[in-house]
Amino acid sequence: MVLVTSGSASKFLAWNVAQQLKAQYLNTEVKHFPDGETYIRFLGEVTKEEVIVVQSLALKPNDYLIELFLMLDALKDLKAKRVITVLPYFAYARQDERFKSGEAISLKTVSRLIEAAGSEYIFTIDSHRHRVVDQDDLTTIPLHDLTAMTELAKHMNNKHPLHNPAVIGPDAEAGAWAKTAADTLSVDYDALEKTRHDAETVEIKPRKLDLKGRDVLIVDDIISTGNTIIKAIDVLKKNGAKNIYVACTHPLLVLNALVRIYDAGALDVVGTDTVPSAISHVSVAPVIADAIKKLK
Ligand code: R5P
Repeated sequence: MVLVTSGSASKFLAWNVAQQLKAQYLNTEVKHFPDGETYIRFLGEVTKEEVIVVQSLALKPNDYLIELFLMLDALKDLKAKRVITVLPYFAYARQDERFKSGEAISLKTVSRLIEAAGSEYIFTIDSHRHRVVDQDDLTTIPLHDLTAMTELAKHMNNKHPLHNPAVIGPDAEAGAWAKTAADTLSVDYDALEKTRHDAETVEIKPRKLDLKGRDVLIVDDIISTGNTIIKAIDVLKKNGAKNIYVACTHPLLVLNALVRIYDAGALDVVGTDTVPSAISHVSVAPVIADAIKKLK
């Protein structure tokens, strides 16, 4: 039997993945002791079963990571047949390099701990680990990064038939995501040039793009403070873009980001359910289920 479970982070998404796979959803009980420690219990048998653990690590990464480690290690202990970890939002992936001497490379630490806890596969979605070329550097188990960009582009195009659109990534790293979305719509794409000064301050260089009278779909992996998207909207408007729409995989939406993006001139902003939010209108459940079906 295939079981799909989650800690407190992604119960609804895990249930959806189970529906897609025609598998059984396995609920968990999650509690916190008065001193802050976490308790987790599977509410059903897992011995000899294949178990898929779906746990996003958004917004409360440390709590959700401890839940994940407790689940994975318990599954090993309880002799589950095979354990697959799905991290719809992979927190700690942005620190994928030692930018300053002495820094911990959190991407490596978290990947290695998930493997050590007993997972045999890791799936992520539009994960922000641009500087790791060699995957073997992270884990010895397979790590597959899936994308939601195709689903996001289809959703936007169905909702707002786009007029002569271009897909734009707000920085060089988003270029690959822009290409995937653009290929889905059979349109062209480009990427802007961004410099990040700190977690809340980014600069996007003005560019000359031929966008006069065209609709633009901005795509990115994450919207956190929204500052990247707001700066991109400004540059695109100056280049003559007509209607601007925004799609992201992971809508973290901190610091009133959504209101500020609409105020900047976006006509619609959509995200996925890797992070439950007011704009999580696209589900990644089919993307996860398709990838898991291919394992067999
Ligand atoms: C970083 O390069 C990512 O791809 C996103 O552009 C970034 O995380 C967005 O952050 P914010 O919304 O705070 O600008």
